[in-house]
Amino acid sequence: MKRSISLIIIFCSVCYSYSAFSEDDSEDLIKYRQYMMKSISMHYKSLKLLSAGRISQSEQWLPQARGLNDMAKMIATAFPEESDFGDTDAKESIWENKPDFNEKADVLVKHSGQLVSLIEQGRQKQVSELLREVGQSCKDCHKSYREK
Ligand code: HEC
Repeated sequence: MKRSISLIIIFCSVCYSYSAFSEDDSEDLIKYRQYMMKSISMHYKSLKLLSAGRISQSEQWLPQARGLNDMAKMIATAFPEESDFGDTDAKESIWENKPDFNEKADVLVKHSGQLVSLIEQGRQKQVSELLREVGQSCKDCHKSYREK
């Protein structure tokens, strides 16, 4: 009886440690940051349509720009150590060059913050120009740190 209880304890502690470090955690984290990137992309593309004059709802510029800025601020923490395995397009070099990766994320934070200010000041005409720089900050990071 005693022996079976200790076997159960050993079994449970093995299960516990497995679940605490299981691949699921990493998989969820990867999915989560891919959703985050998708929202970044949706905000960016929506702003491009708005600034091209193809959508007339002018009240939607600001929430789209704020969404982009808020999401950009999350990039740096969405790539913690140990999240480089699983179904991800993130290159391992992110974790070898984390300060540089974070700097590239900061460039997007800065540009999207400037977008928010421009829109708040009613300077919509300058948005298209700044959106090109935003697009460049996506490319700069993807070129170094995303597969494909
Ligand atoms: C600091 C780096 C960085 C910046 C800046 C950045 N990305 Fe990404 N992006 C990544 C990485 C790394 C991945 C791969 C994530 C993964 O698969 O785990 C990715 C993935 C994506 C994906 C694919 C998501 C999926 O479903 O797999 C899209 C779309 C995307 N980025 C769009 C953008 C757009 C648009 C911008 C700019 C407005 C941007 N990204 C800015 C690093 C960045």
